[in-house]
Amino acid sequence: MTNTYEHHEYDVLIIGAGGAGLRAAIEAKQRGLKVGIITKSLLGKAHTVMAEGGMAAAMGNVYAEDNWMVHFRDTMRGGKYLNNNRMAELHAKESPDRVRELEQWGALFDRTKDGKILQRDFGGHRYARLAHVGDRTGLELIRTLQQKVVSMGTDVFMECKVLKLVHDADGRIAGCVAYWRPTGEFVTFSAKAIILATGGVGKSWKFTSNSWEGTGDGHAMALWAGAQLIDMECIQFHPTGMVWPLSVRGLLVTEGVRGDGGVLRNSEGKRFMFNYVADMFRAETAESEEEADKWYDDHTAGRRPPELLPRDEVARAINAEVKAGRGTPHGGVYLDIASRRSAEFIRRRLPSMYHQFMELAGVDITSESMEIGPTCHYIMGGVKVDADTAATSVPGLFAAGEVAGGMHGANRLGGNSLSDLVVFGRRAGMGAAEYIEAGEVATSLNMAEVEEAIREALAPFERTEGENPYDIQRDLQEMMQANVGIIRNAQEVEFALGELEKFTQRVKNIKVKGGRAYNPGWNLATDLPSMISVSKCVATGASLRKESRGGHTREDYPAADPEFAKFNFAHSTNGGNWDSPIVTVESPLLPMPDELKALLEEAH
Ligand code: FUM
Repeated sequence: MTNTYEHHEYDVLIIGAGGAGLRAAIEAKQRGLKVGIITKSLLGKAHTVMAEGGMAAAMGNVYAEDNWMVHFRDTMRGGKYLNNNRMAELHAKESPDRVRELEQWGALFDRTKDGKILQRDFGGHRYARLAHVGDRTGLELIRTLQQKVVSMGTDVFMECKVLKLVHDADGRIAGCVAYWRPTGEFVTFSAKAIILATGGVGKSWKFTSNSWEGTGDGHAMALWAGAQLIDMECIQFHPTGMVWPLSVRGLLVTEGVRGDGGVLRNSEGKRFMFNYVADMFRAETAESEEEADKWYDDHTAGRRPPELLPRDEVARAINAEVKAGRGTPHGGVYLDIASRRSAEFIRRRLPSMYHQFMELAGVDITSESMEIGPTCHYIMGGVKVDADTAATSVPGLFAAGEVAGGMHGANRLGGNSLSDLVVFGRRAGMGAAEYIEAGEVATSLNMAEVEEAIREALAPFERTEGENPYDIQRDLQEMMQANVGIIRNAQEVEFALGELEKFTQRVKNIKVKGGRAYNPGWNLATDLPSMISVSKCVATGASLRKESRGGHTREDYPAADPEFAKFNFAHSTNGGNWDSPIVTVESPLLPMPDELKALLEEAH
């Protein structure tokens, strides 16, 4: 079969232009490879910007006691020990160098009085550890990496939506097939290696901090190409999203507000978090407001405030308060920094939050409390990769950032995402380069796979009757929010699995009107197969994991069960199509070396 489509060839092709994709591109480019980046959105617009409060790295600039070993321990504990321990180790060791490298490339950071990079507090981190610039850190990271990528002469294909990865005749990844959103014309890419850096899946839930891009494309494409997805039931509901006005419900309110002294109160004005301290955090958590407040001034005096517990703990507590009838008029709780810090401090440290609430809600956060509630923010689960190289089990396919699983276990600590992106983005670039050097790469695209993907993408235009993709998306979001949300039970997740089969049939019956150029309905129709595939893995994992751990809480199994800490649920497809059945197995956790075990034991 000859290829009659627009065609491009690269050594390394990166899908996704957030922090991980850009850092991977820099690494591959520095190794002399021909690199292309594809984004369905625009360069500079990625969920990376939603990691507002900072980038975790044990630099010890504020507390000299901090080091990679404490960061490793915090990350494993935050992840409820489901993490890939090698990833957590590499991340803790390499993050400080990645921050310094960003600084060399021009990133601006807030400073300590003696000119070092300032670090702020975040939940679950023992010491003030987040390098930041106000509450715009993700934006600064993207800006810096993007400038570097462009200055190196990397090709960037914007508004280009990848439909499917394509193999060669031997099952290696050989490229992908995509279409241009502005014209609807198809395009093929050949590559010796592909790095997925497509971010998350949040758009399958009704209330989310993710924007329209977060449809799980990379997770789904990896699954269809033969890779495994792990820990998909572990979804992070960030405790603080806006709840009002409805038009912006879910928009992120940075954890930096709590890191800088903000507290959570219920409708009775009580700091309720003192009532929700789990046993594993009791020894280090303050028992009174006086004790908690002392800690902000000096971390060696008193214990941590309960508002700075890891995100899963705080989100569940907010959920419980609202359920008990102590919520705000719009179904959230109050986040109060106005009564605790000066207006000048708030505007300087949290400029985006100040503007966001003023402009969107008419709330002045220097004098009023914010109404907030949990919002779907991040998926801990993702493509199973080798920690050192970011290689998946499919030759030629690599994954880094949110699309990769393992690093964060069952729950991610705030700020560990930006550092994850650059640590493993770099490693993916290295891994892809080494794979190419080894020489066993694909040389030709299997055109039958290309034609099949294009035929499927065009099917919605051929039907004389069918459903509107927006109706399906809305119903999917409501169904996932209601049944595979922050708290789940057997009945709900089984119901969700049944509904997802019905959604599969509905997606096969989508009708799209108009032409292919700038057709958002068609664009959504091509996203929905990913959203359904990924949601099936999430619901399957949620049904099988009969315990509560991190971002997976089962009402009917409220405790963690040590048996479930021995393996991840790993999903693959039997058939490689978006509607193929999902097969799930127990995949044992990576054994932990004794020296890492000792670090965790020392902490106990
Ligand atoms: O709250 C935040 O600023 C988000 C940070 C993150 O997700 O790491």
